[in-house]
Amino acid sequence: MTEKDFIPKTYSNTIESGSFTWSSPSNIALVKYWGKREYQIPENPSISFTLDNCKTTTTLSFLKKDANEAFSFDVFLDDEKKDDFKPKIETFFKRVELYLPFLKDYHFKIETSNTFPHSSGIASSASGMSALALCLMSVEKELINSDVTLKTTEEILNQEYFIKKASFLARLGSGSACRSLEGDLVVWGKHDAIKGSSDLYGVKYPFEAHQNFKNYQDTILLVDKGEKQVSSTVGHNLMFGHPFAQERFKQANKNLSDMVSILKDGNLDTFIALVESEALTLHAMMMTSMPYFILMKPNTLEIINKIWAFRNETGSKICFTLDAGANVHVLYPEYETSQVLEFIQNELVAYCQNGQYICDVIGLGANKL
Ligand code: PMV
Repeated sequence: MTEKDFIPKTYSNTIESGSFTWSSPSNIALVKYWGKREYQIPENPSISFTLDNCKTTTTLSFLKKDANEAFSFDVFLDDEKKDDFKPKIETFFKRVELYLPFLKDYHFKIETSNTFPHSSGIASSASGMSALALCLMSVEKELINSDVTLKTTEEILNQEYFIKKASFLARLGSGSACRSLEGDLVVWGKHDAIKGSSDLYGVKYPFEAHQNFKNYQDTILLVDKGEKQVSSTVGHNLMFGHPFAQERFKQANKNLSDMVSILKDGNLDTFIALVESEALTLHAMMMTSMPYFILMKPNTLEIINKIWAFRNETGSKICFTLDAGANVHVLYPEYETSQVLEFIQNELVAYCQNGQYICDVIGLGANKL
């Protein structure tokens, strides 16, 4: 599919007002997306596990207004008006207007809440943008006069289109958000080994993955709950003219090929090596850009060293990954849950701000999208 396929032909229904609610999860990348071209096209493909507990719920209410040149909307987080969220949504609306031509016909009220603490340093853009995209798709669905005589196959095609376009729109809000629409494992970005993969939207990982990844665990250690030091827009831009960028993009392609084999075989040692290397490479890109940044904190490194020591001593399959920040995602197989949680309690909580961490489940079967 191309961009043109997401431009609607005509809307045959008119609606005065209404409201839709959607919940959408966050995701954690195993092979990271870092670097994009115009229109949020990724420089390399990425793959993520969908989180089960960390979610955003958004209610979008809409009321017909005189169509004029301006977008009209208000945003609330936990019932509190958030004017500082507006510029990001305004940018999003501008980017998607071509694909959702009704946006200027309504005043929108966007009410959102997260299952995780807002100021936790956990990026809410993936879950937030995907939930909003789903709400907007529900409005579009109402505007397209749905034919009740549709055959089952057409209905299925419509449902597929709904999710695909939601992912396409979410990408235009925040790249990684397009991996939060459907599936336990999601690939975004064209890759030869993944049939149907696209730079425009995320697709469900098309292969069976090994049972070792069933209910894989992710405990997020909140090392630094402050605002991100570098916005991801600034971060991605640092890849322009970066001396190692082209090599990194090649490496990510190869890592995704390798990940396909790992997910099939269930080899946790190679999984650990690839996931940790990806996390450190992401941070290495930031450390070697101009200007340069260190997004890890001393406690991030303390935690990484403790994880390595624990793994050496016990033979555990624990590992870590990082987002573009200081928090640490501790990943481990389900059967190690009690042992690892005890280790986290005894040795890692001390490095978390206010001792805070969030337990989540990723991996196969965790997500009921
Ligand atoms: O979706 P963005 O533009 O906020 O980028 C996020 C990129 C990383 O989280 C660092 C990696 C990834 O693939 O999710």
